Amino acid sequence: MKIGIFGTGMVGRILAEKFIYEGNEVMLGTRNVAATLSKDEKDILGNPPYKEWQQTHQAIQLGSFKETAKFGDIIFIATFGNTALNAIVLAGKDNFNDKIVVDVTNPLDVSQGVPPVFTGALGNSLGEQIQKELSNAKVVKAFNTLSMHIIVNPKREEGDPVILIAGNDEVAKENVTAIAKNWGWKDVVDFGDISESFWLETFGMLWIRYAFKNNSWTHAFKLIRK
Ligand SMILES: NC(=O)c1ccc[n+]([C@@H]2O[C@H](COP(=O)([O-])OP(=O)(O)OC[C@H]3O[C@@H](n4cnc5c(N)ncnc54)[C@H](OP(=O)(O)O)[C@@H]3O)[C@@H](O)[C@H]2O)c1
Repeated sequence: MKIGIFGTGMVGRILAEKFIYEGNEVMLGTRNVAATLSKDEKDILGNPPYKEWQQTHQAIQLGSFKETAKFGDIIFIATFGNTALNAIVLAGKDNFNDKIVVDVTNPLDVSQGVPPVFTGALGNSLGEQIQKELSNAKVVKAFNTLSMHIIVNPKREEGDPVILIAGNDEVAKENVTAIAKNWGWKDVVDFGDISESFWLETFGMLWIRYAFKNNSWTHAFKLIRK
């Protein structure tokens, strides 16, 4: 399968590594390929610049957002949250038609530092905005409520964490659930249609608040039903 991933940050890279390891073709999307390849500095978390990371991941292609949207049979949106719509505009919304679009983003403002400020709004979550913009695509909100460290490796001795998904298209959600289960997620909860994205985004924020309060970056939530 061809996987297009918007975002050259750590989440995009982690998803790309996993999909290529599984034998897929993968393209990471960025605003400007030459600019991304010309960066020499580590990011604020100490992650290597893209060109250094690329040396050990040469099978992963780098393209513009437009090339990546055209390339992917399924597209992951893993840009900085409040820039996701800009990335989609740059990509051209017709290039998403009939495709599954997995929205991994959270609506955050880091302009005043960290912890980030939540900028989501009930009835206007990023998941809903993306589905509205891409009315001919099947948007599934997923993988935003947890740490990048466990997205593709959720197994924990302490038990099985929960992953929440939301979207309007049942078949698209079944596909995303299959991807998650293939990665080891045992408890995948379908929260409902894309309007539930708001609650998934607040849940992502809860994860972030806990992280900054406790200097914890690998925790996860588990759902006890009884
Ligand atoms: N950190 C976690 O554990 C975690 C877990 C789950 C979900 N998430 C969510 O996953 C997403 C990705 O997080 P991340 O830390 O990997 O990366 P990030 O630093 O949040 O985003 C990096 C990407 O955003 C793009 N971008 C920045 N400004 C842009 C603009 N004005 N227009 C279009 N694109 C723009 C960058 O494009 P260029 O390549 O062109 O620079 C880059 O590809 C976020 O929404 C985050 O909230 C994070």
